[in-house]
Amino acid sequence: IEGQLRRRPERWWQGRRDALLALAATGTPRYAYNLDVVRARARQLKAVQAVDRRFFAIKANPHPDILRVLVEEGFGLECVSAGELAHVFSVVPGLEPSCVLFTPSFAPVDEYADAFARGVNVTLDNVEALERWPEVFRGRALWLRVDLGRGDGHHAKVVTGGLASKFGLLVDRVEAFLDAARALDVRVTGLHAHLGSGVDTPDHWREVCDELGGIAGRIGSIDTIDIGGGLPIPYREDDEPFDLEAWAAGLAEVKAAYPGYRLAIEPGRFLVAESGVLLLTATQVVEKGGIRRVGADGGMNALMRPTLYDAWHDIHNLSRDDGGAPVAFDVVGPICESGDVLGLQRPLPAGTAPGDVLLVADAGAYGMVMANTYNLRALPAESVLVESKE
Ligand code: LLP
Repeated sequence: IEGQLRRRPERWWQGRRDALLALAATGTPRYAYNLDVVRARARQLKAVQAVDRRFFAIKANPHPDILRVLVEEGFGLECVSAGELAHVFSVVPGLEPSCVLFTPSFAPVDEYADAFARGVNVTLDNVEALERWPEVFRGRALWLRVDLGRGDGHHAKVVTGGLASKFGLLVDRVEAFLDAARALDVRVTGLHAHLGSGVDTPDHWREVCDELGGIAGRIGSIDTIDIGGGLPIPYREDDEPFDLEAWAAGLAEVKAAYPGYRLAIEPGRFLVAESGVLLLTATQVVEKGGIRRVGADGGMNALMRPTLYDAWHDIHNLSRDDGGAPVAFDVVGPICESGDVLGLQRPLPAGTAPGDVLLVADAGAYGMVMANTYNLRALPAESVLVESKE
């Protein structure tokens, strides 16, 4: 556990221990979000000049306060279901349909009809839907999502390109798509690719943009090139923060090679992951065969990422910041599955005891929204902790 003991001085929640303990006292499991962190991340992306349009992938965290902050900061919203569309229009006052992008996967046809009726931008990634439902698509404008033949991401389950993935139209089918579109008087105005999530190489987007630029030139009617989301955050102590400058420089360079297009991105995680923590209460502490385990009142039901992707989230004992030398604990949840583990062999104070408040860091993206009621446990609560008025 040696390597895990260094501290990251920049983490917002380290200075807000009392406030977080007070929140935890109102009930756990509970997600707490710091809107200032969301705003700061939004501003970092807004400063990237090469990007003309920014959509927040709301699937990462659809909390109404987060959506409102991001729309205030000039972000559009990317939705993937009729439910997400209804949600954004109900919680964000005065939301402009042109600032919303609908990018579903294998959605039922009535969701496309709903999106067109709302006047939002719609992305499609296959010819079959056009052929099957001409009446829904006739005369519309569409963004086309392509599969560049490869994917990327922090785990196989979040790779969204390549033949094994269900997403995107293979580039050699673009002509067929355009033929089907022309027959229905459909204009293809956007070109889209999203190859995966948690991609840690800044060059990735430059390459995607370059390839999309080439395809857009052949299509002719494209005004927006959307290079997807997928920006990572440093979950682990030794993860390098994402090199935004290299990312921005790459985009600026490739954009200059394809003038005349608006460049769009649609990040989720980057904007919200670090803003959120999951507060849990320790339930039982047990030693078995030399392994110490601390149980928490939420596990894979509250935060699925460790179980689904072996994802890493730092875990701290908020109640005992000075609780003596740390020892290794497996941190487990209350769910009746062996996979219900939040972290293995984590350094926690030796005195960690039932009733202590545990903080699971960087849980603001794909946390609450993927929580479930397995074992009929209640969903976590959510609190918005801070918003400084500027
Ligand atoms: N655009 C599209 C078309 C997407 O499918 C996604 C994410 C995004 C944008 C935003 O990706 P981000 O910037 O957040 O990486 N539950 C997984 C992540 C699944 C991502 C699904 N698509 C996780 O917890 O790591």
